[in-house]
Amino acid sequence: MNKIADINQIRSFFPALEQSVNSKTLVYLDNGATAQKPKQVIDLVNMMNSGINGNIHRAVHELSSKTTELYEDSREAIRQFINAAQKEEIIFTSGTTASINLVAASYGGKYLRKGDSVLVSEAEHHSNIVPWQLICESKEANLRVLPVDENGNWRMDMLDNLLDSSVKIVSVSHVSNVLGLINPVEELIFKAHAKGIPVLIDGAQSIVHIETDVRKLDCDFYVFSGHKLYGPTGTGVLYGKREILDSMPPWMGGGDMVETVTFEKTTYAPLPLKFEAGTPNFIGAAAMLEAIRFVESIDKKFLENTERSIVEYMTEELLKIEGLRLYGAGENRISLFSFTVNGAHPSDLAMIMDKMGVALRSGQMCAEPLMRRYGVESMLRASFAAYNTIDEAEYLITSLKRAIKMLS
Ligand SMILES: Cc1ncc(COP(=O)(O)O)c(C=O)c1O
Repeated sequence: MNKIADINQIRSFFPALEQSVNSKTLVYLDNGATAQKPKQVIDLVNMMNSGINGNIHRAVHELSSKTTELYEDSREAIRQFINAAQKEEIIFTSGTTASINLVAASYGGKYLRKGDSVLVSEAEHHSNIVPWQLICESKEANLRVLPVDENGNWRMDMLDNLLDSSVKIVSVSHVSNVLGLINPVEELIFKAHAKGIPVLIDGAQSIVHIETDVRKLDCDFYVFSGHKLYGPTGTGVLYGKREILDSMPPWMGGGDMVETVTFEKTTYAPLPLKFEAGTPNFIGAAAMLEAIRFVESIDKKFLENTERSIVEYMTEELLKIEGLRLYGAGENRISLFSFTVNGAHPSDLAMIMDKMGVALRSGQMCAEPLMRRYGVESMLRASFAAYNTIDEAEYLITSLKRAIKMLS
């Protein structure tokens, strides 16, 4: 089948893009927070809610069999999408946050000892800081930080010293939700593995923009959220190498994750169910299949070229604006831009922009340590998706200039 290489056709799948906000055509540029959903995803969710609804893995009746099949088909599609070796390595969660909490509690709970360390970077989302702090606190272990330089790049020159024998796991983002830079994860994984240290990659922002091959990356864990990948809210994935997942204890106990239960002893179900206790968001998880089909229906070259044009245009135009500081300098980046403007508070700018129909993110971006690094309390962020156009980028720049003028 021919791949789609037409932005209007891509946009036609997204009913949300047709709406007006504050009497202006919506220009949705908060995709880093959550992406809009294509009809295919909405239709599958509606179809399941309207009838194909039976709890998975439990009953022999027709509806249960159908939902189980849809759920498991989606797992297989995700396996292929990120090139995992086995279906059992794909665990459905409620999102990136839940995936990291699972690894921190289960892996950290088993392998961390007093005096050990967990290494994260200075540019992490709170979701990749706090779960590690919680487990470090209970184990009397330490959270170590790989700093970023003024341009937002990891201080790779400090990595060798930080990766000493106390480090039991490294957990870093492929792309920061503030800086938009593509981090040198391959080099980090190689160096960590040379010392026998496993690595978790937070792919919440990268999964939409970078073709992901977990086997090529050779990461031990890779996590992402479905809702940022055009899928339903409350869905996410934890990929883990089978060997390491097999060695980890369950995180949550409940239905579906057990083999046999007696009051004396319980044995657990094999992967992936060991980590999927209780009734999951099986409709959402099943609909991730449609989100992946949508992504795969688009011509990759077309996507890359559009994103490159947006990156070039945005970087050039943002930097021309007097008093504007763009955080995260470098060409190896995705179309996500965080900035501040002298004399204009990010929230005020975001509110004015909203009146012009432009949805942007403002605030501390769930990355307070990074805000502190740059000595700011908040930033403004524009993040693009496959359905955003160069015209929208131009509208953003024009509106931003007007908004800055209104505040000066
Ligand atoms: C890099 C990164 N990690 C983790 C998260 C948390 O994702 P979720 O809220 O979907 O669990 C986000 C969300 O913005 C993110 O950008």
